[in-house]
Amino acid sequence: MFSRAKWGLVCFGVAPWLMLGLTARDDPAKWTGEQWSKWRDGQISQIFDPTFELADGKGLLRQDVVEKCGKAQSFLAPLLADPGFLKDPERSKALTNFVRFTSSLDRLNRQSSDSFQSNALGMDISDPEYFAEAGPYVQFPPLLKSQAFLKAMSDPATYRKATDMIAEENLRLPTSRRWVVFPFRAQFIPSVDGSTYGRMLVLVPNELLPDGRILDRWLMFAIATPDMVTPPDIRSVSLIATVRDPKKPGVSDGYFADYMRNPDSNSSDITLDPTFTVRPSPSKTCYDCHKTAVLPIHPKYGLKFTEDARIVRDNLASAIPLRVDEKIALYGKTNFRHLEPDSFGPPIGQSGRVRTDRFFADSTNVPSDSFPKLRAAMNCTSCHDGWFSVNSWLALRSDQEERSFESKQGLLQTYIEQGLMPPGNRLNPDERHALWQALTKEYCDLKTGKGTFVDWLRGG
Ligand code: HEC
Ligand code: HEC
Repeated sequence: MFSRAKWGLVCFGVAPWLMLGLTARDDPAKWTGEQWSKWRDGQISQIFDPTFELADGKGLLRQDVVEKCGKAQSFLAPLLADPGFLKDPERSKALTNFVRFTSSLDRLNRQSSDSFQSNALGMDISDPEYFAEAGPYVQFPPLLKSQAFLKAMSDPATYRKATDMIAEENLRLPTSRRWVVFPFRAQFIPSVDGSTYGRMLVLVPNELLPDGRILDRWLMFAIATPDMVTPPDIRSVSLIATVRDPKKPGVSDGYFADYMRNPDSNSSDITLDPTFTVRPSPSKTCYDCHKTAVLPIHPKYGLKFTEDARIVRDNLASAIPLRVDEKIALYGKTNFRHLEPDSFGPPIGQSGRVRTDRFFADSTNVPSDSFPKLRAAMNCTSCHDGWFSVNSWLALRSDQEERSFESKQGLLQTYIEQGLMPPGNRLNPDERHALWQALTKEYCDLKTGKGTFVDWLRGG
């Protein structure tokens, strides 16, 4: 590190002209690429200091990382104000990725004039500005915002009535535009209001917009689960809209929003309030988990609303509507519009890297005859490249695993250990666990401060 005190010591015994020269060099605006590299490396070891105790080792405390990225950005801000600053090739190599990553996280430090977090979604515009832009796409269809429907959805005894209304609406729609309804018990995260793992997904597909593009809306109502004797106050609904242009296949726009269903204080009505009006916002950066706009559903089990007003478990195999997964395949690469996926790091599990037996012996506990299988499975980017890379925060070990997920395991670990990724693999349970260990260690080993993620931050 280049501390002023150290330079001061050096300066005292030397000629004044040299001293002047050194003072000038101590001015960050005049630092060489090498000095910037040293500064950056010092920052990286501070930012990625694992201060959180996970069950099996140390992890990052996300809020800490966000704050430290804020400090790095404050230091850089006056320099970055000069558009030429990163034009210098050496400086650009040393700093570009570091600047992209830290500035993306630093958005979470921004505050509105009333001192609340203003960019909780992690976009480069504030949440209200984002909502103003996404608003036309993330509106509820008339039936789903009608008082009759919202009231039916406010009591588990009348969920069935609500789905009957949708069935009736479907009779009026051509087959391709019929809505899909899928109630399930989620295995990953509770609803945004923290009340439940119950969800009712309503997919409103294939609406033709006036400009010829096609809008799909995915609404997830938080609902009660069969085990709840007295259901808690359940209010949230999350919504993702995708818009695709049939003339430009392989890419679509994704828009995100969370809403609360609140009782209106002046009437018996229920109002739909976007969380952008809630202080502090309960919504999180959707991109942390949604690497493409819409994620496939992997429920713990399906749910069914019976005629006699009960919620019961449903047979999963018959319950997951095929149309849901087929849709996702159509979307291709998501354009998040106000968030640049590549600034969150390189993809985990890059194909074509050399991985020695030594590496597997150091990072896993499986016998050496499993190494070739692990090696073959670490080719995630053969699919996850270009259209969606699995990067931070899914790929970093952090408190988010314990805070967000019911299993206290992150989404990446669950996907790998349940055998979902890589698709069609024949690894045994120990090997799956080992695969996840090897992947996360290769990406960012918090003990040694090394990994492909760190190399990327350092401009590699
Ligand atoms: C901590 C991880 C995580 C975060 C953060 C997150 N989601 Fe999700 N979301 C999931 C998972 C996992 C699913 C898939 C459903 C399942 O299997 O439980 C999902 C599904 C959904 C769905 C149903 C459609 C689909 O993609 O399957 C909607 C709508 C949704 N999320 C909205 C949001 C919005 C809006 C945000 C941000 C404000 C957000 N989510 C943030 C994990 C997350
Ligand atoms: C053959 C192509 C293929 C390979 C190889 C592959 N994936 Fe996937 N992955 C997919 C597809 C398609 C999806 C989305 C649909 C799904 O989840 O089933 C996905 C989804 C995911 C998700 C959820 C994404 C999100 O936004 O939260 C994770 C995590 C993931 N994969 C991790 C991995 C890892 C880690 C590897 C390597 C060990 C891997 N995948 C290898 C095709 C692949």
